[in-house]
Amino acid sequence: MGATIVGCGKALPKLKVSNDDLSQIVDTSDEWIVKRTGIHERRIAVEESSTDLAVTAAAAALGLQGVEGVECVSWRFEGASAAPVDPASIDLVVCMTISSDSVIPSQAGMVKMRLGLENAVAFDLNAACTGCVYGLSVAESMMRASAADSGAHNALRRVLVVAAERLSRLTDWTDRATCVLFGDGAGAVLLDWNEECPGIRSSFMKNTDDPEGFLALGNVLAAGEFPFGENAYELPEGMNGFVQMRGREVFKFATSAMREAIEAVLERAGMRADEVDCFVPHQANERIISHVARKMGLPLELFQISIGGCGNTSASSALMALCDAYASGKIAAGDKVVLAGFGGGLTSGAVLFEA
Ligand code: COA
Repeated sequence: MGATIVGCGKALPKLKVSNDDLSQIVDTSDEWIVKRTGIHERRIAVEESSTDLAVTAAAAALGLQGVEGVECVSWRFEGASAAPVDPASIDLVVCMTISSDSVIPSQAGMVKMRLGLENAVAFDLNAACTGCVYGLSVAESMMRASAADSGAHNALRRVLVVAAERLSRLTDWTDRATCVLFGDGAGAVLLDWNEECPGIRSSFMKNTDDPEGFLALGNVLAAGEFPFGENAYELPEGMNGFVQMRGREVFKFATSAMREAIEAVLERAGMRADEVDCFVPHQANERIISHVARKMGLPLELFQISIGGCGNTSASSALMALCDAYASGKIAAGDKVVLAGFGGGLTSGAVLFEA
């Protein structure tokens, strides 16, 4: 028995921004970006809010209608033409984001309201780009605890795990070292508690201190003027409320952290890497993915690569890639799948599940 994925959704904003478009804004080139990252274009949310993206991805996972005009991909275990999931049957919505439209209500609360998930509890979770791993792991733990407690008031049998990011609002568009990497988008997964299927078999989460700020995003609202005396918190020098990054250091962290996380979930499930049918990594850089595959002696074809058309969409990235893998037939029923991530915090982790 376990928390089993029965639906996936992905939502993309309309505006496509190519590498050539970016070379009009900063000193860069299509050749440099493709060679160093594998990114060809990204989507930027201009007409769409973060909530629009989250709602559309979640709706796609449930077989419901999303926001009109927002592009989406949907995969459902019972097939595309199966009846939509009853919104009242959703018990919990967990949303991972660092770029929600509002802090209160939470992004998850907005999804609950807009989709009419009348019985759902909803909260947000921030683990930067590893959000999807943390979200799946937290949701699975809560479902398992609820299943073990027959008298539970809040039985959690059907849970939506959603990630939505609008990183374009947190990006310094004058900084070529970061602005070429990120994009906007949302992903969602519907988990059902299934007595027959193992579903999520193991998970691993880790936080590594980042005292030098290899990857950082200061909160401008916490700093600055204050009528009650000296503000205890000032943004560290050089920090400006946009994502800042030391690329080479993050690259080094990413490759070792992702490998460590994959090996940890394999060990916890008592499996070898060559028994895995599909790896779905965080999509930050194609070179990071191929580096991990090479170091683990695994064929790159086992890894889902979706970064070319969307860039790094932070917490949404691996859920969007997972939706692509299901929709394209790369993942079939019974397959063993590892979803792995790393990101700011520094966070890292992985989830191993049976499809
Ligand atoms: N266009 C053109 N040149 C650029 C550039 C851009 N967009 N960004 C940086 N450069 C230049 C640098 O200024 C540097 O020039 P120099 O040699 O004259 O000093 C040169 O390219 C090499 O820079 P470097 O940072 O060493 O490149 P890199 O091979 O490490 O690639 C990243 C840079 C960012 C693509 C890579 O380090 C990376 O992907 N890091 C991890 C990022 C990540 O995963 N972030 C998200 C975590 S969730």
